[in-house]
Formats: sequence, C-alpha cells, structure tokens
Amino acid sequence: MLRGRLLCPDPARPKIERIADGLLTIGDDGRITAVGPAPDDCALPESYPGAVILPGFVDAHVHFPQTRVIGSASGPLLRWLERSVFPEELRFQSVRYAAVVAWEFCEALVRHGTTCAAIYGSSHEAATDVLFQELDRRGLRALVGMTLMDRGAPPGLLVGADEAIAACERLVDRWHGHDGRLGFCVTPRFALSCTPELLRRAGRLADARGLYVQTHLSENTDELRHTAAAFPAARDYLEVYESHGLAGPRSLFAHCIHLSDGEWDRVAAAGSAVAHCPDSNFFLGSGCMRLRSASERCVRVGLGTDVGAGRSFSLRQVIASAYDASLIAGAPTTAEELLWLATRGGACALGMTAGLGCLRPGFEADLAVIDAPEIAGAEGLFDALAFRRDAAPARAVFVRGALLRGAVAAGPEVV
Ligand code: GUN
Ligand code: FE
Repeated sequence: MLRGRLLCPDPARPKIERIADGLLTIGDDGRITAVGPAPDDCALPESYPGAVILPGFVDAHVHFPQTRVIGSASGPLLRWLERSVFPEELRFQSVRYAAVVAWEFCEALVRHGTTCAAIYGSSHEAATDVLFQELDRRGLRALVGMTLMDRGAPPGLLVGADEAIAACERLVDRWHGHDGRLGFCVTPRFALSCTPELLRRAGRLADARGLYVQTHLSENTDELRHTAAAFPAARDYLEVYESHGLAGPRSLFAHCIHLSDGEWDRVAAAGSAVAHCPDSNFFLGSGCMRLRSASERCVRVGLGTDVGAGRSFSLRQVIASAYDASLIAGAPTTAEELLWLATRGGACALGMTAGLGCLRPGFEADLAVIDAPEIAGAEGLFDALAFRRDAAPARAVFVRGALLRGAVAAGPEVV
C-alpha cells in the first residue's frame, strides 16, 4: 500500500486526475486493487514525501545499441547513421560488449522512471538475446526486436532474409510473452536498409505470429528522396510499408514528420500508432512532427526518446521537447496532454491498452515516483513536472508492484 500524491491518467482521453492525498493498494499479483483518497484516520504515513506517484513512463522508441553514442552531433540523419551509429552497432557482434551495454541501458531506463519500452535491439541475434535476458533479470516490461538490415550498412550489420527471419523465429519462441512482460517486435530498421524481399518476409512473420511491427517513417527529407528512388513503384513513403504488409493495427511508426495529409489519413485508417520523438528530431535537424495531425485523427501516439539521436533516456526531457515542437508547429499542446502521452498514451501505442498506464483497479502497478514541488493547482504541478529541465532521477520505480529502484522513504513496507 502506498500513500501520497497520485496522478491518475484517464484511460481514453489525454486527461490526468490528481488525488492530493491518495491511497494505492496493490495485490499479490502486482495489480492495483484499490485507488482513492486516503481516509481521515489513515495511519499510514506518506510513502514518498515531496514526490508524486504516477504510472511508469513508456518509451515508445529507443535503440539499445546506441546507448554509448548519445550526443554524437554528426547529423543530419543519413550522415549520422554512417559516422556515429553503424560503427558503434558493429561492436555488438561481441556478446560480452552487448552484455555490458545491456546493463547500462536497463539501468538508464529504470533511473528515469521508464518501466516499459519499445526497443530496437541489435542486428545480431545473440546481442538481442542478451538484452532480453537483462530486461528479464531487471523485471522490466518491453517489446524488443532484432533490427533487420540487409543493405545500406557495413557488411557486419547485414543479415540476409533467410537467416534473419530464422533468428527472429528463435527469439519469438524464446521470449515472446515471457512472464507476461516481454514481447518480440518485428523491426525492419527502415525502408532504405531493407530489400523488398526482407520487408515482405518481415510482414509475413508479423502476420503469422501476431506480432507488433516497429520501423521509422518519414523522418528526414534526404531519406524521403532516397526512399522514393529505391522504391519507384510506391507513390509515397507509407506505401512502401503498406505494400509489404507492414502497415496495420499492430504497426508503430517513429517520427512521421513529413507525412502528407493523405498519408496521415491512411495511418489512421490502418489503426497504426506513432512514436513521436521530438528531442531526436531537434538534434538531427529532422523537423517537427505535427502532433495535431495525429490527435485530430485519433491516431495513437506515444513519446520516444529515440536514444541515441535523442540526448537523454528521460521521457520528461522528451515531453519538454514535444512542447517546443508543438509551438513551432503552431498548435501548442499542454503539459497534461504530454504527461498522458508519456504514460497511458505510450501503453496504448504499444498495444497494451488493457492493464497498463492507469492507476485504477485491475491495472498493473507499474509506477514512477518523482520529486515534485508542492503546487496547489493541477496545471502548475503538471508544468513543473514536464518542463523543469533540472529534473532529478526517479525516486522510486515499481513494475507489477515490485520495487526496481529506490526504497519507501517512510512508513512500513509496501504490502
Ligand atoms: N532511421 C534509420 N535508422 C535510424 C536510427 O537508428 N535512428 C533514427 N533516429 N532514425 C533512423
Ligand atoms: Fe530511431
């Protein structure tokens, strides 16, 4: 049982209810059993004085093998991939290297209050397996894919379609659905790094096994030009994925900056979700996604750090960048909407609509406890949580009611 200031995202709308002095009860199965105001005669002291308790953050787009190249200012996108990313990703041929970075990566997630993430693994099967193992050991929740590439990168990163799909099948068998926390996600890196054959086989695998698909879509104008040249039969970028069976209700597209209105309509009609990665978009000079284009069409949106193009594992930094991006796009959003996207919105974008991202009975007790000033008005509190760039790491983090970081500051053990 936890007592404190609770922030409770609405299941369906980008709204957050605040309970100034709340009580949250967690069952043996790690699910929330009760939420509400603490009774007047409540004997339990505040669990984390000076902090708020909210659902854990969901990182809708992050690259495991880029953990150590955060902040490499070699953009724009295609040059940055060549100069900074591919050389680092080659190092994941070593399982020992991958194991060390997997530890650092998971540590960074937990430190920032991220309890669930959609992760691009290595293009190497063994390094991706090592990441699954570390996520499992930590008790985190994630969708993870082996990053598929069979062209457009150094040979050590390329795996042909037969071998790659066989490796994915093995990872699915080993990890998909593991402990109800881990899932495999089919992950063609982007159109330019995949032959039509690999895209088709990836689409078929996702279909056959009922898997989520994640990829990059319409991030950078040079990328758009090269993609049009590589796939001359496609009328636009989205059609490359549509025509290979990769655009559907279990697809998660990152960036979506330069989509036409028609492409947005088709993303909505397909029921696909979007990972909005504004900090990365600023750092690589990619542009600003129009959040309004998604919300007007009821497209599910999560927020992604996109580490290592994003400069931090902190979803709160991404929230701040998303606000700036919305100003530039001429349609300002709010801290409340962005905090919702970083929690409940991300859960829905990852297809975890049932049971994740709300503080309600029946939902998973995946929680982040973060320091917050005592501000009377809800809006002022949301602003402080969202926009103060000096945000400290999460004070405590729980997945399924189990403490991954920190301790209860006062009062009895969590029961
Ligand atoms: N497009 C293809 N690969 C990548 C990547 O690793 N990061 C980003 N931001 N965009 C990509
Ligand atoms: Fe990315």
